[in-house]
Parts: sequence; C-alpha cells; structure tokens
Amino acid sequence: PVITDYLFDEAAYNTHDGGYIPLEKPSTPPQPLAIPAIATPDRVDGKDVYYTITAQTGEVQLLPGAKTKTWGYNAPLLGQTFVYRDGQTIHLHLVNHLPEVTTFHWHGLDIPGPIEDGGCHAPVYPGESRDVTFTINQPASTDWLHAHPCPSTAEQVWHGLAAMAIVQDEHEESLPLPRNYGVDDIPLILQDRRFHEDNQWDYRADYDPDGVQGPTAMINGTINPYFDVTTQKVRLRILNGSNRREWRLHFSDDLQFTQIAGDNSLLPTPVPFTHLMITCAERQEIVVDFGQYQPGDEVTLYSDDVPIVTFRIRDFAPDTTTIPEHLFDVPEYKVDPELPVKNVVLSGMDEEVMIDGKKFDMQRIDYEMPMGQAQIWDITSTNTMVGGMIHPYHMHGTAFQVISRNGHAPYPNETGLKDTVSINPHEHVRIKVLFNVPGVFMYHCHIIEHEDGGMMAQIKVVDPKHPDVQYHLMDHHTL
Ligand code: C2O
Ligand code: CU
Ligand code: CU
Repeated sequence: PVITDYLFDEAAYNTHDGGYIPLEKPSTPPQPLAIPAIATPDRVDGKDVYYTITAQTGEVQLLPGAKTKTWGYNAPLLGQTFVYRDGQTIHLHLVNHLPEVTTFHWHGLDIPGPIEDGGCHAPVYPGESRDVTFTINQPASTDWLHAHPCPSTAEQVWHGLAAMAIVQDEHEESLPLPRNYGVDDIPLILQDRRFHEDNQWDYRADYDPDGVQGPTAMINGTINPYFDVTTQKVRLRILNGSNRREWRLHFSDDLQFTQIAGDNSLLPTPVPFTHLMITCAERQEIVVDFGQYQPGDEVTLYSDDVPIVTFRIRDFAPDTTTIPEHLFDVPEYKVDPELPVKNVVLSGMDEEVMIDGKKFDMQRIDYEMPMGQAQIWDITSTNTMVGGMIHPYHMHGTAFQVISRNGHAPYPNETGLKDTVSINPHEHVRIKVLFNVPGVFMYHCHIIEHEDGGMMAQIKVVDPKHPDVQYHLMDHHTL
C-alpha cells in the first residue's frame, strides 16, 4: 500500500509553533542544483585512505547582489562529499581555518568516541589541526559530517558546516539501484535560511531557543534549484540538515516514489510514498521513476506547498530495472535480559529543555553501558499535543533499531538501522541499542538549539576487555 499521508502527529507539526516561519516561494532566478564534489584522498594505500579536511570561511553567490559569507569543509559552503567504503581505515588530518574552535562530528558513523566521533570533547582550535583514524565497519548508508562544539553547534551548522558522507558496501552494490553520483544518485541537503542586509546570515538576530528557521529553502547551498534529469530513475539522498525545520515532501502530480534507505542502512523492503516527512538530522534515500514524463516536462518537489527543487526532464533511455522486494537483512540484536530498560525523558520547550530532568554537563557521564550488548531504551517526551513539538532523538556511535511507538509497530520506513528517531508528544518510542565501539558519546534532541540548550546527555560505552580506559572530558571553560 502506498503511504499517502505524512507520518507523525499532525497536531505537533512545526507549522503549529508560535515561532513557525513558513517557507516562501523563491523569487530569484532558478539556478542549477549544486552537486558537492567528491573529496579526493591525499593518498590511498590499500585499505588505508588519507584525507585532509579543512573547516574554512568563504563567500558564495547565493542571491543576486552581494555574496554571502559562509563556512564549509574543503569548500566555501557545506562541503565536499566524503565517500568511504566498509572495511577502509580512514586517516583524517582535520584543520581549523575558522576564527573559533570547532569539532568534526561524523553523524551516523559507528566509530569510537569521544575523539574520533568528533563531539564536544574533540576540539580543534583556530589555526590548529588534529589527526584521527578510524575503520569503517557498517552497512552502506548516507551519513554526514557537521560541527559539534558545545554549545555553538547550531550556530556553526547555520554558518554552513555540514557535509554529506556516503558509506558504500558490496551488498548495496549488488542491487540494481542508481548509484552514479551526480547523474542519477543525487545528494539533497535540505536547509533554510533568512537573508538579511547585503545577503548575509545573522544567526543571533534570528535566534529562537526552539530552533532557528528562515523563509528561504537552500538545497545543497542553492537557492531555487533545478536539476536536469537524464535517466529514468533518480536516487535522492535526502538529508535534513536544518537546525529546526521539518520538511513535508511531495512531488507535483502526487508522483509516487520509493524509499529504499533511512539513516544507517537500506530498509528491509522498499516503501512507496506520495507524501514523506523528514525531521532534523534524518536521512531518507528515495528512488523516483520519471518514466511517465517526456523531455521538456518539469516535475516539482515541494515541502508543504512551497516548491523546493524543479526536476527538468531531458531525454533518457528507458529503464526496465525494478527495485528488489528485499533490500537488507537487519542484524539480529539479542537483548540481554540482565540489562534493565533504560528510560530517557525529553522535557520542556524553549530555554527549559532537558533530558531526564537535567541540562547537559560536559563533565558528567549520565549512563554507562557495556559494548557489544543490546539493550532496550524507552524514549519519551513530556510535551503535550498542545504547543508540544516532535523531538528528533539522536545517538552518537550506534545504529539502533526502532521496535515500537506506544506499543504499536514503528513507521514502515524506520525498520532499518537508524541513529535519529523522532518522538511525538507523550509518545514512548522503544529502540534496541547496541554499541560496537567504546567511548563517550552524546545522545540528544537534534533540533540543534535544543541540543545546545541542554537537551543532551552522555553515555560511556565500556569495552569489557579494557574496562579502565579513562577519557578526558572537556568543559565549557576549557573549550
Ligand atoms: Cu548530528 Cu550530536 O549530532
Ligand atoms: Cu551525531
Ligand atoms: Cu527537541
């Protein structure tokens, strides 16, 4: 059955917020959709791959008139796309050319924390660098790199510090799916901004403790983009890189499309949609079949009723491949009956946001868990339907399985591995959590202003073979 209604509780959509800023139809001329270049390694030595990643300032012609001052990774805005393969060992030389401290967080990679993971405890100071090494050991997925210095993650992401990372593996490559990057396999980083005088962004002026928004959709750093479709099927790797905005996606003609992956893996089976909502930090890969269109036709992708990308149909060869009915075997996580259910309570709004009744403290470990053991976590929100929000709950360093929403089956597109699951007001979402890597990791709401505002906590994952490892935890002052 095709899903024709957005999932999640309508009463809690961001459109009901007091501070909601609707997207506006773009008034500037259409621009070709920017496709971030794939980062080229400095050196490849078998399975060892070496990159330099520089966080830098830049200027981009986003609108007619003055250029906008931006930040990015190996690029003036957002970043290059990092393509890693399962089994590779990645060596990164991380360089900070920004005027302030930053960190390089790999959202969705199952790598040790807190240094490799790149959360708050791995600062790179201005003019300095840091080298990290980690091995990719996870299924094919769409992930991302973003800044994570607490508490200015939101402001740095707003400046542009967010890039896509793609993990490839043999299994995914054995399936008949589009994977020609930039041609039929397209990143779509969804963000929104407000342009002030001289086309500049002003985070402080737009500040809202429930999440900063702007009326202008920016897709891969392009305002009012179009994309020329030259193949019948196109795979879109959609990443919600917004600080706060939910995107409710649908195409003109209510064109049906198929979701094949979400967050950290392919879905077990493809799910057909006409209307699909994506909350902050989630990734959804969809395949759109333009077979019914002729050269010269245009197909529009909307969020709510605002056009965000125009697909201009060009000539293409017919494609008779079908998406396999079975895409992915979800690994069996056996829950240890000894481990209790771990409860997480998200509460408050605005400056009052908390997790388990506390604000984030960089020096406090909130929970400890053994590596390699599966445990049930129960995530709930005390928000109510009236004036409540949908909080996108995220965990570093792990890919979890969503088991239930208020005792019912999870949504059909959250049956693969995930690292971000959105919690409706008053809902209990149960997930199966298993860490394959040790370290200190954050878990938090991914409305980034909530995260910076303290709706965040930390877990220490202990490798039973090395139970005494000590981690150096930064605090706000040393940072
Ligand atoms: Cu997307 Cu704590 O991260
Ligand atoms: Cu993360
Ligand atoms: Cu939140």
